[in-house]
Amino acid sequence: MAQDVKTLTQDNLTNEVGLVLGTRPGTIMFAPIIHELRRRGLPHFILHTGQHYSPNMDAAFFTDLALPQPDHRLTGVAEKRTHGGQTAAMLEGIETILLERRPRVVLVGGDANTNLAGALAARKLQLLVGHVEAGERSYDWRMPEEHNRVMIDHISDVLFTTAAHGASRLQHEAVMGEIRVSGNPIVDASVQHLELAKARSNALRRLDVVPQQYVLMTSHREENVDDPASLEGAVRGAAAVAAEQHLPVLFLAHPRTLKRLADFGLETLARDMPGLRLEEAVGYLDFLNLLGHARLCLTDSGGVQQEACIQQVPCVTLRDNTEWTATVDIGANRLAGSDPRRIARAAAEALAAPRNWDVPFGDGRAAHHIVDHVERHLDGHACSAEGGTA
Ligand code: UD1
Ligand code: UDP
Repeated sequence: MAQDVKTLTQDNLTNEVGLVLGTRPGTIMFAPIIHELRRRGLPHFILHTGQHYSPNMDAAFFTDLALPQPDHRLTGVAEKRTHGGQTAAMLEGIETILLERRPRVVLVGGDANTNLAGALAARKLQLLVGHVEAGERSYDWRMPEEHNRVMIDHISDVLFTTAAHGASRLQHEAVMGEIRVSGNPIVDASVQHLELAKARSNALRRLDVVPQQYVLMTSHREENVDDPASLEGAVRGAAAVAAEQHLPVLFLAHPRTLKRLADFGLETLARDMPGLRLEEAVGYLDFLNLLGHARLCLTDSGGVQQEACIQQVPCVTLRDNTEWTATVDIGANRLAGSDPRRIARAAAEALAAPRNWDVPFGDGRAAHHIVDHVERHLDGHACSAEGGTA
């Protein structure tokens, strides 16, 4: 390849799929897609951006989801502390690898900086970009994820949405790419691993909780945990739930949240709060198992809102809005922000309400639909590129 090459042309590409991942939810979302590509023998490679790197945010998921090690792993990303620095380091690193590998298709999934960097690097090289979990919106412009989603959707060639609402939203926004309603592979992963999680995980015993007698909590969103008042509100809200419902709250904290609790001098408060148990984040099978046996879930996570809904566990979302509005519409989820009284009230309502909703998240075959589409695209090129690289 010439040193000064700035973009790639179709006759220059290999018939491979490049998968860009690097965060906890991204690894989970791509696991069913990777397994489906492997099952069909379609050539692909995994490019890990290094955005998440702690063993309980990264390696644990490769083990639990039986994934091969990434083919490429960027270095120097974890040290970056700003959105610009982190995204720029990943953009440059991804571009270098894509220039070397020249895949015909690049897939990114979700709304993290990893995905923006992956989509942008591929777009600039004129590679086909597929965005998995396209079309979701919170309309909360404070969220870095919202900027990322809007940008990724508008530079992608194929937009794989989780449901029809995402497709109509993207049509309304007049995106350039092709829209496909495929479902969400996070749902595939959850459905596929639930029984395994229950069989293999000993997390309840290890963390000393009893089925149906605890509340599970996660929180990591920038707009929540980087704001001392919101973080303290969530901690006090969780303690209020524990006191009023006579249920311990097991708070599995993301490393960002643990750092912020320490930075803001809130760690002692969180550790000493009666009824609240602060623990480090756990691996995927342990988490699915803990969620499945919880009476209630408190979270600001996108993935966890969906998983709670799938497992018929009522959810209180520690935000004022959500992309996953269907979970609220069917009564599986309640928005409570970070006000302790509101959190306690929403928890009481959630616990009193029936939990027999119909799960609104597709058929659990999203990876199959996505890989079908990718395979058709690769086949088209393999046929047309006589003597090509297929
Ligand atoms: C990122 C995504 C968010 C997603 C979340 C999933 C962006 C803008 N945000 O947020 O959409 O919901 O991942 O978990 O991309 N840290 C560690 N070890 C790790 C990872 C992070 O210690 O393995 C700490 C570091 O101090 C780091 C901080 O957490 O600076 C924030 O990590 P970062 O990846 O920037 O954002 P997340 O909060 O994880
Ligand atoms: N998760 C996990 N261990 C934990 C907390 C969450 O395995 O301690 C999983 C959970 O099953 C879900 C995913 O992490 O699928 C959600 O990721 P996260 O909350 O980090 O990001 P978001 O979905 O909000 O982007």
